Amino acid sequence: MKPPLFPFPDRPRLWGVAVSHYQVEGDDPCDWTEWEAAGRTRGGPCGAAVRGWERYEGDADLAASLGANAFRFSVSWSRIEPRPGQFDREALDRYRRLAEHLVARGLEPVVTLLHYTHPAWFHRETPWTSTASVGAFSRLARTVAQALAPHVRLWTVLNEPLVLLLGGFLDGQIPPGLSDARAARRALDHLLAAHAEAAAVLREEAPGSVIGVAHNMMAFAPERPGHPLDRVLARSAHRLYNSGLLEAFATGRWSVWIPPFTRLAGRRDDLPGSLDVLGVNFYSRLHLRSPGKERFPGDFAYRDRSGQGLSDNGWEIVPEAFGPLLREAAALGKPLLVTENGLADAADSRRPSFLRAHADVLDRAIAEGVPVHGFFHWSLLDNFEWLDGFGPRFGLFSVDRETFERRPRPSAGVFAELGRRFLGTAGPDAQVSVHI
Ligand code: FCB
Repeated sequence: MKPPLFPFPDRPRLWGVAVSHYQVEGDDPCDWTEWEAAGRTRGGPCGAAVRGWERYEGDADLAASLGANAFRFSVSWSRIEPRPGQFDREALDRYRRLAEHLVARGLEPVVTLLHYTHPAWFHRETPWTSTASVGAFSRLARTVAQALAPHVRLWTVLNEPLVLLLGGFLDGQIPPGLSDARAARRALDHLLAAHAEAAAVLREEAPGSVIGVAHNMMAFAPERPGHPLDRVLARSAHRLYNSGLLEAFATGRWSVWIPPFTRLAGRRDDLPGSLDVLGVNFYSRLHLRSPGKERFPGDFAYRDRSGQGLSDNGWEIVPEAFGPLLREAAALGKPLLVTENGLADAADSRRPSFLRAHADVLDRAIAEGVPVHGFFHWSLLDNFEWLDGFGPRFGLFSVDRETFERRPRPSAGVFAELGRRFLGTAGPDAQVSVHI
């Protein structure tokens, strides 16, 4: 097999939008629908979402109308494999048609295999805590690759594996809802093994595949800048949340400390070779305070410390925290993609300046030699925002909740303008010289 080629010679830079299957498609029974039915979310059921399952061609056209040349989406495991080992041809065909349509519109499809949701049977029969999960996931990877192979060459296999780990296995907020350090250790081992095996399968079934991961990176700051314990806490959170996964991909070994008493450590020698490109999802910054009243080791909160305000769902707007995280990500020595960045802003009053400020950070980082080759705005449309339901509005296009009509917000024009700048300035990219 030839080594994968990225950035693509025919497309040195990608400027696009990101969506995920569950948040737009609608009517997809899976672990998350069970979670909603059990009353474990704040925002109510996803239901029809924004009817993306039917409206996918129009949605791709909206992205193309903004001058995007790439489109990130995920596939629904529960639709594709409704029962273990039984694959749904119609669902696979629908994703193939989406990929074909994207290619026909000049959009590079970027496919995520796991964006939080699972078939309900998965947690009962082959959960992440069992080694069988790795085989189940690689079977999914093989089936999807066979269906999409001629059209898709760029994959972000897992979306935010650490968010799934922390939320699903340590604080129990998202499916499978565990709060168990031993289960978390096993789940992390298997998630990373599943990434590596899926990478091998994708390369075999879709030769030339470029393999990535979408890693959520968050800035952490001490709530009281001079307070030693707050500072220790901020540093530990950074290591756990941001650096741990980067080190795993750099060395094949991971060892992350989860306060107070949990260490998750493991090793997988094929992990470093399984990544061609690193995706970074960046949104905000958390401020940490020790000792906490609510739970050890402290409290964390978003605060408007940089004076640029909070988004509708209370996340600090802090573009200046983006550059340092990109530089840290670059130390892995892989090409970078910003696989998600955006904000909830129903009035669209902050999104234009948010977009411009983050695009400026990208330009500066690239000028310094950070190899960012693409940017994906979260999101194309208002959609279903997990625990918060339809409250937060992340879309460049608003969606009418009754008619599902899509309407551009003013910031859609800003996104298009910044895209022209980003795509028009492609030049020879300098090599990175930073190291972990
Ligand atoms: C990211 C998720 C994405 C969306 C945004 C707001 O962490 O990957 O699905 O919910 O946050």
